Amino acid sequence: MAAEIENHLISTFGGLFGYDEAGTEGTFTSGGAEANHTALLTAITAHFPDFPEHGVRSLPRQPVFYVSSQSHHSFLKAARFCGLGTGAVRHVEVDKQLRMSAGSLSDMIRRDTADGLEPFMVVASAGTTNAGVIDPLQQIADVARANGLWYHVDAAWGGAASFVSELKGYFAGMEQSDSITFDAHKWMSVPMGAGIYLTRHRGILNRTCAIETSYMPKDAAGLDIRDPYMHSMQWSRRSIGLKVFMSLAAAGKPGYESVIRHMTAMGDRLRSRLELAGFEICNETPLPVVCFRPTGVRDMQILQAIVRKIVNSGQAWISTTQLDGQGPVLRACITNFRTEAEHTDRLAELVKTYTAEVMGSEGQG
Ligand SMILES: Cc1ncc(COP(=O)(O)O)c(C=O)c1O
Repeated sequence: MAAEIENHLISTFGGLFGYDEAGTEGTFTSGGAEANHTALLTAITAHFPDFPEHGVRSLPRQPVFYVSSQSHHSFLKAARFCGLGTGAVRHVEVDKQLRMSAGSLSDMIRRDTADGLEPFMVVASAGTTNAGVIDPLQQIADVARANGLWYHVDAAWGGAASFVSELKGYFAGMEQSDSITFDAHKWMSVPMGAGIYLTRHRGILNRTCAIETSYMPKDAAGLDIRDPYMHSMQWSRRSIGLKVFMSLAAAGKPGYESVIRHMTAMGDRLRSRLELAGFEICNETPLPVVCFRPTGVRDMQILQAIVRKIVNSGQAWISTTQLDGQGPVLRACITNFRTEAEHTDRLAELVKTYTAEVMGSEGQG
C-alpha cells in the first residue's frame, strides 16, 4: 500500500513537471542531496552501461559533468561518493544574472571532448539555493541533446513555483530533462525529509540500483509493482511518500497554489520595501529570496554586523552570502507560508534601523 502511494505520487509529480505521467519513474529520497546523487548514478549508468558492474575502472575515458558555480554543492559530494572525484565536476560560467551560460557550456564540452574527456551529464538549477536563479532550461536542454548528455534539473526548492500558471513559463524546457530533483520538504512544507528523484527513462533506476538476493521476499515478483529497494539507494526505509500524500490530500493542489502565490507576493513586497528604503537589490528571480545590501556597501563585516543585530532582535532571521561577480550581500528567504505583509514590512524596518546604527558607528569609528 505504502509503495503504491509512492508510485502514484511519482507519476503525479512527473505529470506536474511536464513528463508523461505513465512514463515517469522515480524514487523518494531523504532529500535533494540523495536525489542529486541518484541522478548522477543514473546518468553515468545510462552513458556507460558497464558502470554498475565494473565501476569507474571500466570507463574508457575520463568522465566529466557540468554544473554552474551556483549549483548546489551536493554534486561535489555525489561525485566523490560515485568514485569519480570532484575533479570530474566542471563549473560552467554564469552570466550577469547568475544563470548558466549555454554558450560557455557548449564551448567547454567541445574543448573537453577534444582533450580526450567524456562529457556525460549537465545539471541545470531551477531555483539556486543562494539567489533563486533559474537557469535557461530550454537552451541547456538544446545543448544537452546536441551533445548526447543526460540532462538533470535540480528543482529541489524552486520546482514548486512551476505549479502556478503565471510562473510556469520560467520552467519551460524542464519537461525535456532526463531527470529532476524535487524536495517536498522545502516549499511544500512537508516534514523533513521528503526528496524526490524523477526520470522519464523507465528501467534506468533498476539498471542502476537492482541487486538480486535470495533472502528478500519474492511475493511481488509476478505482480506489476515496483519494489522500492530495487530502484533506490536505500534498502529499509521510511514510507517517505505518505506524508507528502497526506499533505496534498489536506491542502490539495489549489491549496499549494495559493500558498506559493502568497509567498511569492511576500517576496515581491519585501523586495520593493527594501528598494524604497534605499537598498540595492542584487539578484533577479521570481522566487521569494532577496539578496540586497545598503547601496554600494561591499564590506562583509558591516553586513555581518547588521545580520547579528537583526538575529539578536529575535524578530527575523536573515544571513549574509557571496554572489559571484557581485561580492557580499544580505539574504532573506521567505520559507514560512504564514509570513504576512506585517512581517516583511517589519523586516524592512529592522534592516533600515540596524543599517543606520551600524553605518553610524562605522562613521564614528
Ligand atoms: C537547489 C538545491 N538542491 C539540493 C539541495 C539539497 O537538498 P537536501 O538538503 O534536502 O538534501 C538543496 C538544499 O538546500 C537545494 O537548495
